[in-house]
Amino acid sequence: MILMTGGSGQLASLIAARMKREGYDFLTASRGPDADRQMDFDRVETLEFAGVETLFLTSAGYAEDDVVMRRHGAVIHAARTQGVRHIVYTSLSRASDHLGFALAHRWTERQLKESGLRWTILRNGLYAELIGALAAPQDGRITAPFGTGPISAAAREDLADAAAVVLGDPAAHAGSCYELSGRTAFAVPQIAERLGLPYRPLTLEAERRRLADLPLLPFQPAMMMSIYAAASAGFLETDATDLLHLVPAPHDALAVACAAATGKTA
Ligand SMILES: NC(=O)c1ccc[n+]([C@@H]2O[C@H](COP(=O)([O-])OP(=O)(O)OC[C@H]3O[C@@H](n4cnc5c(N)ncnc54)[C@H](OP(=O)(O)O)[C@@H]3O)[C@@H](O)[C@H]2O)c1
Repeated sequence: MILMTGGSGQLASLIAARMKREGYDFLTASRGPDADRQMDFDRVETLEFAGVETLFLTSAGYAEDDVVMRRHGAVIHAARTQGVRHIVYTSLSRASDHLGFALAHRWTERQLKESGLRWTILRNGLYAELIGALAAPQDGRITAPFGTGPISAAAREDLADAAAVVLGDPAAHAGSCYELSGRTAFAVPQIAERLGLPYRPLTLEAERRRLADLPLLPFQPAMMMSIYAAASAGFLETDATDLLHLVPAPHDALAVACAAATGKTA
C-alpha cells in the first residue's frame, strides 16, 4: 500500500486525485479530517505506518529549518522502524540552493540516503503558481522585486503528474534523484508584458520594510526575501531538468504564472 502525507495540501491533493482515479492501493494522511489517516508530524504518536510499503513524504516546509528537520526526521525514523520499504520525498531543485529554505530539504535528502530504506527524491522546481501569486499586481502594476532574472519554475500540476508516474512503479525509480525544474524559464517582466501591466519592482530594501509591517509568521519575510534576492541575482534559472522524462508535455509555466497573478487558474 502507498501512503501519502500532506493529503490536504495543494500538491498532494492533485497527486491523490490521480492515484485514486487510476485505482492504486493508495491512502492519504493529513492533519485535516478528510484524510484516510490522521497524521501530524509535530505529534509523533500519530506517525503510524502499519501496512505501508511506499511512503510519499510531502515536505512540511512552511516553518523554520529546525522545525522542518525535526518533522522530517521523526517521519523517517518512524517509517524505518515500522517496516516502510521505500520513501518518495518532495525536495527542492538544485537551482534553488540559494534559497533560505533549501537547507532542510538537503538535510532530509541526506537522512533518506542514510536510512537504509529505498528512496526516490523529487527535486521540485519553484511552483509557477507561487511566482505568479507573488507577482500579483498591486494598484495596476507589478511591484514584487524579482528583478529580471529568468526563473525555471514548473506548474504544480506537472510536478504532481511526475510524482504520480513515480508512485505508479516506485521500485523502478529507487535511488533516483530527479531535477524537476520547468523546461522553459520565464522572468517576471514577461508576466507583466503578457498581462499588459507595467513592471515597477520595489527595491529589496523597500520590500523588506513592507513585509516587516505585515502580520506574517516570523520565518515568512526571510523566506520570501530569499526568493526575490535569488531571482534578482539570476540564480533561479537552470537547464538541468528531468521533467520531460516523467511528463512529456508539461504546461506553459509562464501561462500558469500569469493565471495565478490574476487569481485565475490556467
Ligand atoms: N516548489 C515550491 O515552489 C514550493 C513552494 C512552497 C512550498 N513547497 C513545499 O512543498 C510542500 C507542498 O506544497 P503545497 O503547495 O502543496 O503546499 P500547501 O498546499 O501549503 O500544503 C502544505 C503541506 O504541508 C503539510 N504540513 C504542514 N505542516 C504539517 C505537519 N505538522 N504535519 C504534517 N504535514 C504538515 C500539509 O499537510 P496537511 O494535509 O496535514 O495539512 C500540506 O501537505 C510544502 O509543504 C513545502 O514544503 C514547495
